[in-house]
Amino acid sequence: MIDDATVLVADNLCKHYAVSAGVFKPPVMLKALNGASFSLKKRQTLAVVGESGCGKSTLARLVTMIEEPTSGSLKINDQEIAGAEARTLRALRSRVQIVFQNPYGSLNPRQKTGLALEEPLQMNSSLTKAERKEKACEMMEQVGLRPEHYDRYPHMFSGGQRQRIAIARALMLNPEILVLDEPVSALDVSIQAQVLNLLTELQEKHNLAYLFISHDLSVVKHIADDVMVMYLGNPVEHSTREELFKEPRHPYTRALLSATPVPIPGGKKERMHLSGEIPSPLSPPDGCAFHPRCPLCFERCRVENPEPRPFSVSRVSCHACKA
Ligand SMILES: Nc1ncnc2c1ncn2[C@@H]1O[C@H](COP(=O)(O)OP(=O)(O)OP(=O)(O)O)[C@@H](O)[C@H]1O
Ligand SMILES: [Mg+2]
Repeated sequence: MIDDATVLVADNLCKHYAVSAGVFKPPVMLKALNGASFSLKKRQTLAVVGESGCGKSTLARLVTMIEEPTSGSLKINDQEIAGAEARTLRALRSRVQIVFQNPYGSLNPRQKTGLALEEPLQMNSSLTKAERKEKACEMMEQVGLRPEHYDRYPHMFSGGQRQRIAIARALMLNPEILVLDEPVSALDVSIQAQVLNLLTELQEKHNLAYLFISHDLSVVKHIADDVMVMYLGNPVEHSTREELFKEPRHPYTRALLSATPVPIPGGKKERMHLSGEIPSPLSPPDGCAFHPRCPLCFERCRVENPEPRPFSVSRVSCHACKA
């Protein structure tokens, strides 16, 4: 392990799907994720941002071990996932939990809150019924739910409360890593702030590492320590939150920021509009995937996919970026 705080290291993670191209045609490879490298640390939040279809949820499925990477390495607590035994994988799976955008979809409508919270313990621990109930009630209190909520069904809650239940359920097995896939995108702005504050509190209390997926830079600005920007399956810029908002370097990051009404004290605010549509991931452009929409594009960008390069504390994949 690199240091005591690092709980996950991903190196060049890729996920390619074979997609049917029609009758009598060979399948085409869809590169949903193409070379993501990052680490997660205790009490730290790495935000992943990018437009719809850029591979955020694919990354979430790899990190939570719902799917296996096509290539690359994923280490959790210094343990390589690829080729690990089923027993090891089962143990590691309880270390990483996920919260989805829509809590109504992820909660069983016929299951009362208390039982939904106790279910992970029933399957993964030898606690008695009374001990499970005690843990569930304790967790409900931590996420701001009241004791009388124990016997209620999901439809009897507001969206914000349902997301609190989903968060509580994810924490029942004391995980080290929480993957949050657009956890506040379906909520009203005022409720978003409450849930984000709760997540910050829980992170401190339980030493959690967060992988926080969002398309909303104003939310990311609130919660992230580090940010990874993705475009069409490729991470294009990885930096600290301060640096990314103050000195965005990749032209795609700059375009995303200029389209977001985020106040950036001392930051450069430029107007930058992207021309054209996101290309189909089934037939991505040669060279840099962003080049057909990039105002800085030159010859090299059309033929050579840029490798990440260091700029101050940032890593940027762009031929046109200059120090
Ligand atoms: N099982 C699959 N088979 C084939 N293609 C897939 C599969 N899962 C995802 N994809 C494709 O991979 C790409 C990335 O999808 P993903 O769901 O990771 O995007 P996303 O960034 O989470 O988007 P959104 O913001 O809309 O949730 C998309 O083009 C999607 O169609
Ligand atoms: Mg998604």
